[in-house]
Amino acid sequence: MSMVDVIAPVNIALLKYWGKSDYLNIEPITDSLSLTLNSKQLHSRTQISLSPGVEQTFTLDEKHQNLTNRMKDVIIVSQLRAMRKGNFRRFQELHIRSTNNFPTAAGLASSASGLASLAFGLSTLYHLEEDIAALARRGSGSACRSMYGGVVHWKRSATDDKHSSSSVEQLFPHTHWPELRVLICVTSSHQKPVSSSEAMRRTVATSPLFHEARATVVDQRLPRFIDAFRRRDFAALAELTMRESNELHAFCLDSWPPAIYLNSTSFAIMDFVHALNQHMRRCVVAYTFDAGPNAFLLTLADDAPLVLSLLSECFGQVGVGNGEGLRCYGDDLDIKRAR
Ligand code: ADP
Ligand code: DP6
Ligand code: CO
Repeated sequence: MSMVDVIAPVNIALLKYWGKSDYLNIEPITDSLSLTLNSKQLHSRTQISLSPGVEQTFTLDEKHQNLTNRMKDVIIVSQLRAMRKGNFRRFQELHIRSTNNFPTAAGLASSASGLASLAFGLSTLYHLEEDIAALARRGSGSACRSMYGGVVHWKRSATDDKHSSSSVEQLFPHTHWPELRVLICVTSSHQKPVSSSEAMRRTVATSPLFHEARATVVDQRLPRFIDAFRRRDFAALAELTMRESNELHAFCLDSWPPAIYLNSTSFAIMDFVHALNQHMRRCVVAYTFDAGPNAFLLTLADDAPLVLSLLSECFGQVGVGNGEGLRCYGDDLDIKRAR
């Protein structure tokens, strides 16, 4: 096969990955948990073809780019795996074309879907079956979670031994909680000022708050998140999710120079969520923000129409437009692996 065409979905971190303990093998300092979206919704599509004797090429969203070092690493590791399996006959140049159907580098997890689709595409091209998540992780840590659907756990390595590594597993399939919905609110589609990689490196290097609190908080929150999913307890999930998002942004601000990701609409959405929950005297909706100003809102199917209509009343027209202003994508969590 000399041409592959694959897609991979984004995943939304609820318990966030923030900080690496090993920059070469991309080992996370803490565990993380995420929800993988339906690949019909936000996804990256990557086409890879082979032809000998011409330079490697890469286009992202139809623009020519240099391959990043992390992409080169994914390519080389996949080629080494192929050589070991005898699936690599002669060197041919790769031509990689990738597109995201949503804003790139804006805090909507494009590195997760993008690098998951690259790892999946290369594994398909070279007929590699083993541990595609470990390959994806080398491209972007969060990408390893997009290789599974549903609720996904990326576990840090159990020991400091350099031969042991982190692992990824699905905790619950999407069918476990079919009423769960994610609304994605795009407050800005601009590229973020500082990449996630750079910001987390800064946090690890400079944030006392991170070093004092992070490991303990994750160890406490992880079983609570799992329990909230097991019991389908939306109120518990909502509080954990919002506290976790707020903590990430506290670390970002505690870093030096600070990484400032949230904009005034992000804060207005946070206010809106707390006001609505208070008004309804129950937990209707929760927010989480990755490293960017765009909100992921969790809600349940019965409440989704109410949340959407109030969002549209408070923030103007929702669901249309292509740039600034608030856009919401409704999503069922019919979660699929990359195909
Ligand atoms: P995000 O919040 O979107 O994940 P990051 O700062 O983590 O933002 O990563 C953005 C970077 O990920 C981009 O600058 C690009 O290098 C890489 N990326 C995004 N989408 C793709 C893709 N489809 N293929 C390859 N690389 C991608
Ligand atoms: C806030 O996976 O984008 O989205 O491994 O350096 O590519 P690299 O970083 P990336 O970081 C994701 C950070 C986050 C939280 C998360 O997805 O868990
Ligand atoms: Co990212």
